[in-house]
Amino acid sequence: MKTETTIQGLTASLNPARASRKIIGFVPTMGNLHEGHLNLVREARKLCDVVVVSIFVNPIQFGPNEDFENYPRTLEQDSRLLADVGCDIIFAPTVEQMYGKQPRLTNISVADITQDLCGASRPGHFDGVAVVVTKLFNIVQPNYAFFGEKDYQQLTVIRQFVRDLNIPLEVIGVPITRAADGLALSSRNGYLTEAQRAAAPAIYRSLKQAEQNLHEGQALSDVLQTIKTSLTEAGFEEDYVEARTPQLQPVTAFEQDTMLFVAAKLGSTRLIDNLLVKYIE
Ligand code: PAF
Repeated sequence: MKTETTIQGLTASLNPARASRKIIGFVPTMGNLHEGHLNLVREARKLCDVVVVSIFVNPIQFGPNEDFENYPRTLEQDSRLLADVGCDIIFAPTVEQMYGKQPRLTNISVADITQDLCGASRPGHFDGVAVVVTKLFNIVQPNYAFFGEKDYQQLTVIRQFVRDLNIPLEVIGVPITRAADGLALSSRNGYLTEAQRAAAPAIYRSLKQAEQNLHEGQALSDVLQTIKTSLTEAGFEEDYVEARTPQLQPVTAFEQDTMLFVAAKLGSTRLIDNLLVKYIE
């Protein structure tokens, strides 16, 4: 496994694979890797000849009061984990390597589907994601790119601009990896105190209860209210509890496959999760 820190170095490493038409798989990350990320790499490994993982904490997707400075940077540990799951190349550029010294004048802004859910409480976040992911796609030029479904809105936004801009690759969504108690794996789980970590699985429990309640015929609005109450009782401060179609369009009743989305804070740590509830006629 190689680690490249420059675009030139990465291009030199990938050129032989490109020349021999090898299938290149790409897993963009911000590092501090956990089993969720490793499962993305495992999926890439199944489908691709060469697997590239980027590790880059992207400053432009963090708001002014968010955790950019404190975001855990654990390259040595990440490299060991990636070697074990068969990553071929780590791309770990500096901020200067990615953004250069000149001001950036170009933005990528996806309308509509970025306006609510996480977009409402993190203004500009998805523009920052769209810019860095597009840059990474242009640098790596993969055939397939792998993203986790925990960040479902992010995945939908990426699919949208890949389609809108004719970026020549296929985006693959990979199901959420959960701890044994149901908590969706996230680098931010590491911020939780012991007591908060014990409370955190309440999100998934409330989503599973909601699924059952919907299948038993409860009204969607009541089901969403029950999630909110459960989260408050478990010590969360709610950001949003919402239902959407899998394409992120609003829904008012459970009359089709419906996704439930939660974002809530335990102390200063913001956690997100989602669940697809299948509509059974
Ligand atoms: O999901 C993430 O880790 C980041 O948003 C991504 C896609 C690597 C872009 O910085």
